[in-house]
Amino acid sequence: MIELTIDGTKVRVEKGTSVLEAAKEMGITIPTLCYYPGLSSYGECRVCLVEVVKGKNRSSLEASCAMPVEQGLVIRTNSEKAKKARKLVVELLIASCPTSKTLQDMASNMGINRIRFKIKDRGCILCGRCVRYCKEQMRSGGIGFVGRGTSRRVATAFGVTPAECRNCGGCEWICPVCERACTANNLINGLCGGCQNLAPVETCAICTGCSESVGAHGHTVY
Ligand code: SF4
Ligand code: SF4
Ligand code: SF4
Ligand code: FES
Repeated sequence: MIELTIDGTKVRVEKGTSVLEAAKEMGITIPTLCYYPGLSSYGECRVCLVEVVKGKNRSSLEASCAMPVEQGLVIRTNSEKAKKARKLVVELLIASCPTSKTLQDMASNMGINRIRFKIKDRGCILCGRCVRYCKEQMRSGGIGFVGRGTSRRVATAFGVTPAECRNCGGCEWICPVCERACTANNLINGLCGGCQNLAPVETCAICTGCSESVGAHGHTVY
């Protein structure tokens, strides 16, 4: 067993457990996006950043889903440094995917009231959930990442439905962008035009039905 300290409390967990899972066992919630239970961890989105204390005045930020526990680790999941970094990550993700209801809700929970980056809807946050689901759960591997940098995207080989595809729909179902899309027309400061993250979703006066728009973003089921 490995002993570490999370938010001031000592905890003992099995070797191989991630910091995210150890915190979860203690009832501490850390936001996640590319992480999905049952899939391998990817450590890409950085929404799950936590502060790792390395000395009296030294610490670093690490993705908790991809960080295995180590003896004596001291973790702060809710420090100002961690919260500020996570907010910045969510702002950047919303700038590239403003219709994601998951992201808009996350922004609301974090108290983000403005996106400071230029909005360019790419319809994908490159979280890799669909790719890992296809490969690890469906044993298909019909889709994967292609391209680099800003042209990186999820695609099939040669842009055609691959023979390995079982048409299960899992790649769309697991996508945090497709699952529930905000259908409000205008973004205000990069945030959902209706609720603006200022009011609980159920009281949104002009809600156009995000809860009924499952799959509205329209990623194809390859
Ligand atoms: S629909 Fe096809 S590409 Fe999508 S997860 Fe299922 S097998 Fe993979
Ligand atoms: S299509 Fe969806 S699940 Fe796949 S990488 Fe993009 S955002 Fe993630
Ligand atoms: S409540 Fe309305 S405005 Fe808010 S996310 Fe849903 S559709 Fe968009
Ligand atoms: S959930 Fe940890 S990096 Fe994405």
